[in-house]
Amino acid sequence: MNFQAPEGTKDITPDQVVLWNRLEKAARETFSRFGYEEVRTPIFEYTSLFYKSSGETTDIVEKEMFTFGDPEDKKGTYSLRPELTPGTIRALIEQGLFAKKNFWKVWYLGPAFRKERPQKGRYRQFTQIGVEAVGSPDPLVDAETMVLFAEILKAVGVTAWELRVNSIGCGDCRPKYRDALKEAIRPLLPTLDENCKRRFERNVFRILDCKVDADKTQNLPRAIDYTCDKCKAHLAVVETALQAAAVPYRIDPRIVRGLDYYTRTVYEFSSSALGAQNALAGGGRYDTLVGSMGGPEVGSVGFAAGVERILLAMGGEATAPPPDFYAVAAGDVARTEVFKTVVALRRAGLSGDMDFEARSVKAQMRSANKTGARYALFIGPEEAQKGAVKLKDMKDGAEQTVSLDEAVRKLQGGTS
Ligand code: HAM
Repeated sequence: MNFQAPEGTKDITPDQVVLWNRLEKAARETFSRFGYEEVRTPIFEYTSLFYKSSGETTDIVEKEMFTFGDPEDKKGTYSLRPELTPGTIRALIEQGLFAKKNFWKVWYLGPAFRKERPQKGRYRQFTQIGVEAVGSPDPLVDAETMVLFAEILKAVGVTAWELRVNSIGCGDCRPKYRDALKEAIRPLLPTLDENCKRRFERNVFRILDCKVDADKTQNLPRAIDYTCDKCKAHLAVVETALQAAAVPYRIDPRIVRGLDYYTRTVYEFSSSALGAQNALAGGGRYDTLVGSMGGPEVGSVGFAAGVERILLAMGGEATAPPPDFYAVAAGDVARTEVFKTVVALRRAGLSGDMDFEARSVKAQMRSANKTGARYALFIGPEEAQKGAVKLKDMKDGAEQTVSLDEAVRKLQGGTS
C-alpha cells in the first residue's frame, strides 16, 4: 500500500529546504534590523478565539477551519489556526506583556491551516511569516510594515511585485459607508448569488470580495470616499512615508480583506509571477481588536505573507554550499580511525562526511566528487599511525600529506 500526503499539504525535500532557509534567513535578518522580536504560539487555539477576532462571518472562520475536540467541553472545541494574528495577540495579553512596555513589535513564522480547495499556491497547510506592531496608532508604523516586507522581497531577489493600499475607515465613518453600500446593493440583491445574499445581511463589506458577481459590483460606492477627516489624514501620512522610503504602491479602493478586524489602512502585495493565487502578503491596521480581546485599547498594524508563495515567486533552485571535505578510508585502515578524524574536523567547525557503507576506495571517491567537497581526505594505515591525512584538492588534483592540525588550518583558511 502506498501512502499519500493529505490533499493540500506539501513535503519539503532537502533540495527545497535550501531555498526555504535562504528566505527564512533574509526574513530573520530584516525583522531584527527593523526592531521586531520573535514570538511562537500554539498551532491550535480555542475555536472561540477565531470567532471573536478573525470574525465569525468570514469565509476563513465559517468554512475553512479544521475544528476538533469535544463540543460539550466547557471551554469549547479547538481549531487549527487559520492565521497567526489572533494567537499572537492572545499571547501578548495573556502573558501580561503590556505591563512591561506599551508597544510591541513582534514577528512569527509557522504553519497555518485552511480547508480550501487546493490549487497552485493554495494549500490546506501553508506557512505564514508576518509581523504585528501592537500598541501604536502612528501611520508611520503602517508604512514601516510595508517597507519591511518590500525589504524581505528585495533580499531574496523577488522584483515583480505590486503593493496596493486602501483605507476602509474607522468606527466613526465605516457605519456611513455600510449604509451607503447596503443602499446601492439592495436593488442588485435578487441577481446576486446565495453567498452574497447571506453576506448582505451578515457582513455587507464581504460582497466586495465576491469573485462570482464581481462584474455586478464594479460600480459600488468606495470606502475611501466615505472616510472621515482623521482617516484621510492617516492615509495621507502612510502615502507620504511610502514615498519617502521610495516604496512603489497604488491606491486600490477594492481592497477589503477577508478578515473582520481591520480599521483604516489595508494592503496587499501581489506578484505577477504567480497564477490565480497571486497574493504574496496581506495586512493592515486593527485599532479595536486588542481592546475587544481584553487587552489595552491600543492601535495596531501587521501583515502576514505566504512562505510557499514567496518561494514560487523566487523561482529557480538554490544549491547548498559544498562541504569542506569528504574522508576516504584508504587501504586496510580501521574505519574507526577515519571516523575519529571526521569527528575532529567537524568539531573544528568544518563540514564534511565519510562513507558509512564500507565501500571501495573508488566508490568513496565517486561520493567525494558527488558531494562537491573542496578536498578529498585520504586516511590509510600509515596516515592513521602518524596522525596525518593526505589532502587532495578536488579542483586541481594536487595532493599533499599533512598533520591533522595543518589540515584543519588549511581547510579553515578556505584556500588550496
Ligand atoms: P491573509 O491575507 O488571510 O491575512 O493571509 C496572508 C497571506 O497568507 C496571503 O497573502 C497568502 O500569501 C498566504 N495564504 C493565505 N491562505 C493561503 C493558502 N491557503 N495557501 C497558501 N498561502 C496562503 C492574514 O492571515 C492576516 N493574519 C494578516 C495580518 C496580520 N493582518 C494583520 N496582521
